[in-house]
Amino acid sequence: MGKILILYHSATGNTAKMATLVVEGAESIAGMEVRVRDVEAATAEDVHWCDGLAVGSPTNMGILSWKMKRFWDDVMAPHWMKVDGKIACAFSSSGGWGGGNELACQSILTVLMNFGFLVFGVTDYAAKLMTLHYGAVAAREPRSDDVQDACRTLGRRLAEWVAVYVDGRGEEHPLCKTRMGAE
Ligand SMILES: Cc1cc2nc3c(=O)[nH]c(=O)nc-3n(C[C@H](O)[C@H](O)[C@H](O)COP(=O)(O)O)c2cc1C
Repeated sequence: MGKILILYHSATGNTAKMATLVVEGAESIAGMEVRVRDVEAATAEDVHWCDGLAVGSPTNMGILSWKMKRFWDDVMAPHWMKVDGKIACAFSSSGGWGGGNELACQSILTVLMNFGFLVFGVTDYAAKLMTLHYGAVAAREPRSDDVQDACRTLGRRLAEWVAVYVDGRGEEHPLCKTRMGAE
C-alpha cells in the first residue's frame, strides 16, 4: 500500500483548502494511505513514513513561507541523506494571479530536490486553459471548478506515480490509462 503525505502551511486557510482537494485526488486511486499534516504539527517521522509527498505553502514574497522553510531547515536538516528517492510535488496559494504562485512552487521543488526527492510537474490540462506544470496554484482560496480540479489532479498524479514506481502497479501509469481509454 502506497503512503502519501500532504504537508502544508496555511496562515489564513487558503492553502489548507487546497490541501483538502489534493487529498481527495490522492484518495481517488485505490490502495493509498493518505496522511495530512499542518507543518506546525508535522514531524520528521511523517516524512520518513511516506513514499510520496505534496508540499503546499502560501506564496510569500514569491517563495515558500518561512514556516515551511523552517520545517526543512530545522526539523528535516538532521535527516538529510536519509530520505532520498521519495516522489514529491508542490502547490501554492497566492494573493492574486501573477503574484508568484508558480515561483513559490518552484522554490518548494528546489528545497525538495535538495533532499533528493524525485519532483514532478503535470502535463495534463485540468480544465480549459488550466494546467499545473509546476504544481497546483490558486489565487486566494480554490474557489472555481478549474482550480479545484487542478488540486485534485495533482493529488491523483502523485498517487499514480506512487502506485507505479513504489507499488509496482504499472496499470496505474497515466499514459497507460489514456491508451486503454482510447481503445
Ligand atoms: C508575508 C506575506 C507575503 C506575501 N507575499 C505574496 C506574494 O508575493 N504574492 C502574492 O500574490 N501574495 C502574497 N501574499 C498573499 C498570500 O499568498 C495569500 O493571501 C494566500 O492566499 C495566503 O494563503 P493561506 O491562506 O494559506 O495563508 C503574501 C502574504 C503574506 C502574509
